Amino acid sequence: MTQAQANPATTVTARNVEVFYGDTQAIKGIDLDVHTNEVLSFIGPSGCGKSTFLRCLNRMNDTIAGCRVTGSIELDGKDIYHPSVDEVLLRARVGMVFQKPNPFPKSIYDNIAYGPKLHGLVERKPELDDIVESSLRRAGLWEEVKDRLHAPGTGLSGGQQQRLCIARTIAVSPEVILMDEPCSALDPIATGIIEELIHDLKEKFTIVIVTHNMQQAARVSDRTAFFHLGDLVEVSPTDELFTNPKNKRTEDYITGRYG
Ligand SMILES: Nc1ncnc2c1ncn2[C@@H]1O[C@H](COP(=O)(O)OP(=O)(O)OP(=O)(O)O)[C@@H](O)[C@H]1O
Ligand SMILES: [Mg+2]
Repeated sequence: MTQAQANPATTVTARNVEVFYGDTQAIKGIDLDVHTNEVLSFIGPSGCGKSTFLRCLNRMNDTIAGCRVTGSIELDGKDIYHPSVDEVLLRARVGMVFQKPNPFPKSIYDNIAYGPKLHGLVERKPELDDIVESSLRRAGLWEEVKDRLHAPGTGLSGGQQQRLCIARTIAVSPEVILMDEPCSALDPIATGIIEELIHDLKEKFTIVIVTHNMQQAARVSDRTAFFHLGDLVEVSPTDELFTNPKNKRTEDYITGRYG
């Protein structure tokens, strides 16, 4: 075994993370490393805390009144909850794609251009044009929209809108992309396109995806984490988790005994 296999590079390190909504604890003492350029899936029954834990990774829980996060989460060895961290910049480094496609009420072009302009990544129009084109290409949408870049993003199909949201996320060159059930509003063909895209994107990005669909986790992810009642029960290479789970709770879930 090479050293790299024994000790994969780690992009996110979470230690003893707990989350409370008011007095109710939703996440219990979770430790998790997210490896660089992996696709990591979160699975588990509804309400087990997948979305809550995912939102810890770019501080989206800070936007929820009454939500409190404790423990430590580091991105490239730096505490993302340190008071000096700018949350807007953090969310560019750790981008997020939601369940329902949510393009801005702007043109396709401006959906992509917004982030690079906001973060001062470009100075001239030709550079911006390049980012718009390369982001749309990487999201597999360019050929479908190149002749209507100034039409509204909301006029695209659901699957196209979701790829537009992915293009918008990658336009600011994040390190990590968080996806919370990104295919649940899509038909099987649009879902297949997004799954292929996820496979391509991991060359450049680290991806954490929440999915309700165990087949999807099996298809897209290198490792899978099983959550249950706020615990991270098990995280294993995906084929191992599905064929030879370490934990009885994981086994019960993947064999359909609950969930
Ligand atoms: N904004 C909130 N206020 C209060 N409680 C919340 C809030 N969001 C989530 N919860 C609670 O935290 C727990 C975990 O919810 P979460 O949404 O993270 O689960 P999930 O695993 O993503 O579920 P699903 O698969 O249904 O999306 C649940 O008990 C839920 O009711
Ligand atoms: Mg959820």
